[in-house]
Amino acid sequence: MTRRWKKRSWRKIMGVAAACLLGLFVLCVAVLFTASGIWQEPRYLEPWKKTYADAYPDPRLHIAAQALLAPNNHNMQPWKLKLDPDNPLVYELFADPARMTKEADPASRQMMITVGAFLEYARIAGEQLGYASRIEFMPDGAYEENALDASMAAKPAARVTLTKTAPADSPLYPLLFQPDTNRLPYKAQPLSDEQAKQLSQVESEAQGLHVTLVRDALQVNAISQYAQDAAAVEAANERVMAESAALFRANERQKNKYRYGFSVEGQGTTGILKHVLQGLVTLFPGMNSGKGAEERYVKSANESAEHTPAYALIESAANDRISQIQSGMLYARWALTAESLGLAVQPMSQVLEEYEEMAKLREKFHAEYAQHGGTIQMLIRVGVPTGEVPRSMRRDVSDLLLP
Ligand SMILES: Cc1cc2nc3c(=O)[nH]c(=O)nc-3n(C[C@H](O)[C@H](O)[C@H](O)COP(=O)(O)O)c2cc1C
Repeated sequence: MTRRWKKRSWRKIMGVAAACLLGLFVLCVAVLFTASGIWQEPRYLEPWKKTYADAYPDPRLHIAAQALLAPNNHNMQPWKLKLDPDNPLVYELFADPARMTKEADPASRQMMITVGAFLEYARIAGEQLGYASRIEFMPDGAYEENALDASMAAKPAARVTLTKTAPADSPLYPLLFQPDTNRLPYKAQPLSDEQAKQLSQVESEAQGLHVTLVRDALQVNAISQYAQDAAAVEAANERVMAESAALFRANERQKNKYRYGFSVEGQGTTGILKHVLQGLVTLFPGMNSGKGAEERYVKSANESAEHTPAYALIESAANDRISQIQSGMLYARWALTAESLGLAVQPMSQVLEEYEEMAKLREKFHAEYAQHGGTIQMLIRVGVPTGEVPRSMRRDVSDLLLP
């Protein structure tokens, strides 16, 4: 009797404990998902919809609504647009000095490359819509480099004049709507001669730009080592790390609010895991800084570098603002072409960055790989992707408009 009673009450206790555990689990999941903002509509993804630009009958805005999908440093989207009030086919593109990343990009070089990436996307979007773009670089003269912020705000980086043409299907146009940067490991599969040939045919109208594709295993390993060393230098640089950490959007609410910067999707995280991670980072913000973040940064760079079958380098003879913009245009076209060949790309900018702690490595890298004695504007890993990556945040085109 007593034994049976004991057994029954033991079972009851176990049942209650299991129900409590289940309840606790459900509560934890609910807290995590709520912190992540799982129920929020992701407005930060709207510009990726093919129909998004249709809301803008003005061709300049229609084009800009697609050009803002361009790759851009730190996902800062530092573009400002001034529509010519007197000519409905003219607009000016400014670099937005409020969106500099002064620690990682003290020379604002990556920012100007980003301006170029926008212009190339705009050109492709224009062709599709039936407009040719004539681009004048720095039409009001060069920036005053010793008063760069004010000068950037005052002087356009480019003036674009559209001319009506017949709409033409560009093979690169559908790729504007695909994610640009794939940070996952790539397959251990070399690029084919045909892929290399097609990539070598990507041309720039600009003078003095060169793209070098490195496929030789020994050389690829040597560049991977530079990328890893540079990541370690960057991880140890508190200023640069703090700048990036401040741009991290932990959850859906923040992503909808800012619509620029980084998020967990950048490392390819999707689905339920994305919400678990976002929930955790929201509840424990310390996870995204300090030693742990430093180690994760280096680990991820090492993982990328170790799974890279080829690199490309974009070098420009001069390092003036126009050469930087033109390098960005070339990068955008080159990256889209790589995607059209089934390849994935990721810029690896650290070793090229101009802050003091990187100077030695940057100079050594240039001494070894700048084949034309110029400036290496982009170092890009390229290969067959092991998976797809999610799209990153984009601002609304109306946020780009200057009064
Ligand atoms: C000039 C420039 C430098 C970049 N440097 C890096 C880099 O060092 N590492 C990286 O993972 N992505 C880099 N990117 C890619 C951006 O982070 C990416 O374009 C941005 O976050 C938006 O994401 P998406 O390209 O997937 O749309 C760079 C892009 C540009 C244009």
